[in-house]
Amino acid sequence: MADIVIKNGRIVTPKDKGNGPRLGDEMKELDVITNGFIAVTDGIIEAVDKGEGFDFITPDSLVIDAEERVVMPGLVDPHTHLVHYGSRENELRLKLQGHSYLDILKGGGGILSTVRATRTATKKMLIKKAQKSLDIMLSSGTTTVEGKSGYGLNFEDEVKCLEVMREIDHKVDIVPTYMGAHAIPLEYKENPDGYLDLMIHEVIPYVAKEKLCEYIDCFCEEGVFSIEESRKILQKGKELGLGVKVHADEIHPMGGARLAGELGAISAEHLLAAQDDDLSVMKEAGTMAVLLPATSFYLRLGGYARARDMIQMGIPVAIATDYNPGSSPTESLQGVFVFASMGMGLTPQEVITAATINAAYAIGRGHLIGSLVKGKKADIVIMDAPNENYLVYHFGMNHVSMVIKNGKVVVDRSIKIYA
Ligand code: NIG
Ligand code: FE
Repeated sequence: MADIVIKNGRIVTPKDKGNGPRLGDEMKELDVITNGFIAVTDGIIEAVDKGEGFDFITPDSLVIDAEERVVMPGLVDPHTHLVHYGSRENELRLKLQGHSYLDILKGGGGILSTVRATRTATKKMLIKKAQKSLDIMLSSGTTTVEGKSGYGLNFEDEVKCLEVMREIDHKVDIVPTYMGAHAIPLEYKENPDGYLDLMIHEVIPYVAKEKLCEYIDCFCEEGVFSIEESRKILQKGKELGLGVKVHADEIHPMGGARLAGELGAISAEHLLAAQDDDLSVMKEAGTMAVLLPATSFYLRLGGYARARDMIQMGIPVAIATDYNPGSSPTESLQGVFVFASMGMGLTPQEVITAATINAAYAIGRGHLIGSLVKGKKADIVIMDAPNENYLVYHFGMNHVSMVIKNGKVVVDRSIKIYA
């Protein structure tokens, strides 16, 4: 007997065969049930089917009328830089004057200015700021996020940021990633090998032993970490049991996609400049592509990752916000849909697959979330939209009407609950 029955919905979910992310043409295949219902018991989806769900309703059930609108899985954001302090609206002017992202970083700004702000912030301040971001995410339909460290860059402040993710009390689930290899901190400017040693011999062993993160990530980019440096850092994390992710081939074609494949990474992310032979190595290794089209837009990189080619090659594609204070200051994965579609050419059906089941697999949660099937967590969003195409079509606004997380109503933006 159900705690909640959502009835009269257009139930939209990626197909889920329980065997991994959706590839190629499968990304277009959604299961759509019109006049459908979902029954939820103890935080878990008990049934999804056509009809009113009468068999599941008791006098104690909360019955929600979805009014023929889209009911879909909670969105999963598999790449965010959640924990940081301050903001960088000052860079807008520099960007418009033509200064590049990497030049701003080279001058001690960009990531390094956020490092300064993050180091001086207390845990309490960081928690408060991250909680506010998580509130925005949840009210935009995101129910699980990955969160990277990478604005501490020394032992103490990296650990502080990872502990912040563990200590935050929020309905959104957070999957933590250590990304000390985000930039070379200023104090190591003349001694980058010293920073590598610090990560490899002190920080990575500690964060792995204390289970402060599940993944390790590295910004493999010209002027940041080279392929060989990235390999050393990621390899160390892998040896200590962490899953591998790579910020790969974002601006320059470094071969980060190849490195990700060679290391058996779960995902390579960004990939604007990735070359075909490197993508082939990824494909053979089963490494997923996490694409960040809002970042491509916001950095004015003049193009987008070649999502269509990747899908054609059989690489599973997920999308994410890349939420961070520099290259993508937005918490809304829903807001990224329009860039994924208009920028990278994904259909609305592929966009939904990329932001739900594939995103879940990109953070090791594909067996638990990302689709509406019996036995999965009841992370469900009701969108104020008549169909899935509408979510991409009517852009720049929040369609969320209601969010259900772990079987509980946690956001209600429409006040349309009928008992
Ligand atoms: O994924 N590319 C590196 N890191 C982030 C940006 C971080 C920042 O600018 O603060 C990214 O885009
Ligand atoms: Fe990023």
